[in-house]
Amino acid sequence: MFIRSSGGLDALALAKLSLSRMEFRGRDCSGVAWLEGDEIRVVKDSCPVGELFARHHLGSRPTGSVLGHTRYSTHGKADPRNAHPHVDCEGIVAVAGDGALRNYEDLYAELLERGHRLVSKSDFELVPHLVEESVRRGSDYLGAFADAVASLRGIVAVAALFRDGSAAAYTSHQPIYVGTGEGVLAVSSTLSGLYGIATRFSRVSRGEVVAVTSGGEVAFYDLSGRRLSKELLPYELEEPLVEADGFPHHMLREIYEVPYSILRTASAVQSRYLELASKIVLRSNRVFVVANGTSLHAGMVFSYYLSEMSGTVPVVVSASEFLLYHLDGLSVGDTVIAVSQSGETSEVVRSAYEARLRGATVIGVTNNINSRLTRFSNIYLPVAAGPELAVPATKTFASTLTLLYVLAKSAAAITSAPSSRTLAETWEEFEKLHYALLGELDGIRAEADEASKLIAGCSSGYVVSRGITYPLALEGALKIKESAYVHAEGVEGGELRHGPIAILDEGMFAIFIEPLEPSAAEDMFGVMEEVVECGSPTVVVSHSTRAKEVLGAGVRAIRVPRFERHFMPISVAVALQLLAYSLANRKGVNVDKPRRLTKVVRT
Ligand code: AGP
Repeated sequence: MFIRSSGGLDALALAKLSLSRMEFRGRDCSGVAWLEGDEIRVVKDSCPVGELFARHHLGSRPTGSVLGHTRYSTHGKADPRNAHPHVDCEGIVAVAGDGALRNYEDLYAELLERGHRLVSKSDFELVPHLVEESVRRGSDYLGAFADAVASLRGIVAVAALFRDGSAAAYTSHQPIYVGTGEGVLAVSSTLSGLYGIATRFSRVSRGEVVAVTSGGEVAFYDLSGRRLSKELLPYELEEPLVEADGFPHHMLREIYEVPYSILRTASAVQSRYLELASKIVLRSNRVFVVANGTSLHAGMVFSYYLSEMSGTVPVVVSASEFLLYHLDGLSVGDTVIAVSQSGETSEVVRSAYEARLRGATVIGVTNNINSRLTRFSNIYLPVAAGPELAVPATKTFASTLTLLYVLAKSAAAITSAPSSRTLAETWEEFEKLHYALLGELDGIRAEADEASKLIAGCSSGYVVSRGITYPLALEGALKIKESAYVHAEGVEGGELRHGPIAILDEGMFAIFIEPLEPSAAEDMFGVMEEVVECGSPTVVVSHSTRAKEVLGAGVRAIRVPRFERHFMPISVAVALQLLAYSLANRKGVNVDKPRRLTKVVRT
């Protein structure tokens, strides 16, 4: 975020306030930059913003400009050097950013080659050096900023403070916000970052730049330099919605972040580690995928990805079972892919530790690169979804699927194509998914809400699917149990007639996920008709118009956009998450903190 104040207002104090409201985006590092004369001063550390101010005795600065950042580690662990803002070699500009650069490896090598002093492992450190180069070539500060951001690939929201007091910000995908109030101007990557500061605001959309002159005038541009006109609207965020950035719960906010988090994941993974992990997988005697809960379901989907794309069939097993039954035979040549969004789930961490002791290679897949799982892994791949605060895992599931898909695809391509190309192609596929989901989310939510009304009277039910969406049936049932306190069981479609159908009646719902495999879909629509005859309130999560045939008073559809088969688990997951969320609201459950559950299970 960037703050510019005048008339005696304390810019640093306002920055602290704003940053503290943005800590849901991460708080393992923080930092601020401001001007003293024409020199940029930076204070940053591996701690939350409150501690930063106390530890470094940051007193008040009555007027001026401050650039601030609060961070969740994806590129580079929690370390003061990796904290933002970053500065260039000559002290021209300080930069703070959010997102992930997918051309980090190339840019890093080029900048190093050209003699830049790079001191961190943070991808955003490259940006001020790119600005510096453009200034050296003769660009003015704003032009240099536009040049620099135009060379970035990936998902990026970035702000810069120049040594003449001017500032600029840009976003490639996720909106950022500009707010104004009495004697203050602020740019924030969250709406809540403006709370208590702005009375009017405007949204900066993808591909746009906001520029603030040293005199405090604001203007908006596109990347070609064309000036845009924007209206400032009244800023009216209500106090109860501040904590979750305009949403009533973190769970809903995090579901709405799915389109962005999948792009972060696809951008953050570095090709050299991906290639190494792929080679390890392909050369292994046996591959185990070890996880718990939602991460285990992601691992199950991965078994379809990996076996279909590379021919390697992994054993997917709960970490709890792995510790009991698979350690004995484990040895050198085996690989354990340990998946845990928190990286701290005891049984997953112990599995990684015990596997290493026996000579197996461990690949950690985690959303927390500062975790014990990364310490016990030979190599880790970052999920990079950003922090997840609600206990029910939502965006981390989508991002874990993204990462595991990229891993499988890289393994498949290893002999035929360089993985940097694989990554570029994959990113384009995920960008299409991103836009489709963004466009459909509100519609899916409305249909999920209608569907939740239909099943709200039931105390139990099944979630049914086949093929690559079968693990989603298990995941959907888990989401309904933990979010709405309603009993649900995931059932493989073919198994329904082998017992489970016997107890279906009006009091038990059935949620079908239309399979992607045509023969499986055919069969399941047949089963669905039998279920409807039992009187069960029925919901179909459907990617075709086929569901219309069975729709009636007792059947509701939630339509999800159709993608290439391997991507369907992500859109289906979003529909089931929204259904569970709506059901929980109808039941009056606090979805963010379900009873008896903790975000990290330590045993
Ligand atoms: C998910 O919604 C659950 N809260 C839970 O099952 C979770 O997925 C499980 O505890 C594993 O967590 P991890 O990914 O952090 O290891």
